[in-house]
Amino acid sequence: MNTMLGAMVEAMTAAVEASPAQRHAAIADALAPFLGRPQLLAGIPCPCSPARYVRHLLHEDRAGGWAMVALAWAPGQASPVHGHRTWCALGIHEGWLEERYFTLSHGLPVLGTALPRAAGATSAGPADITLIHQLANVSGAPALSIHVYGVAYDGMGDGVNHVYAAA
Ligand SMILES: [Fe+2]
Repeated sequence: MNTMLGAMVEAMTAAVEASPAQRHAAIADALAPFLGRPQLLAGIPCPCSPARYVRHLLHEDRAGGWAMVALAWAPGQASPVHGHRTWCALGIHEGWLEERYFTLSHGLPVLGTALPRAAGATSAGPADITLIHQLANVSGAPALSIHVYGVAYDGMGDGVNHVYAAA
């Protein structure tokens, strides 16, 4: 682990100690200063895949019950429409993503707002499967985002996302 990523892990470890109501926002605030810094992922390749967006483990704290990953997005790739079974915070490290918010109508997600999230931007939410969003790389270049979730790495996927519709 390089020095800057080590410092980021330290900042996350401290932020995770915030109260449950504040934790996701505290982590997003702690992520922000590291985003876009070229040294952050030095020596840690995080390639895109042509098949789908891909997850690269950056750090896992099994005892603390959280993990940090980089997600690599090729142009045109998107997450499913989903809510979270655990708290989550994310920040954009390279490129930009569109974050789409949905409301539930008769049990189905309906698109509300869509916001551009540029490098340096953060977003966060508590565990709540009715807070529904989707991330999509609608740009013409690869994007890299960093996500922190309240589960161990092997719990990611179904342990995090309550999926409403596949992208
Ligand atoms: Fe999400």
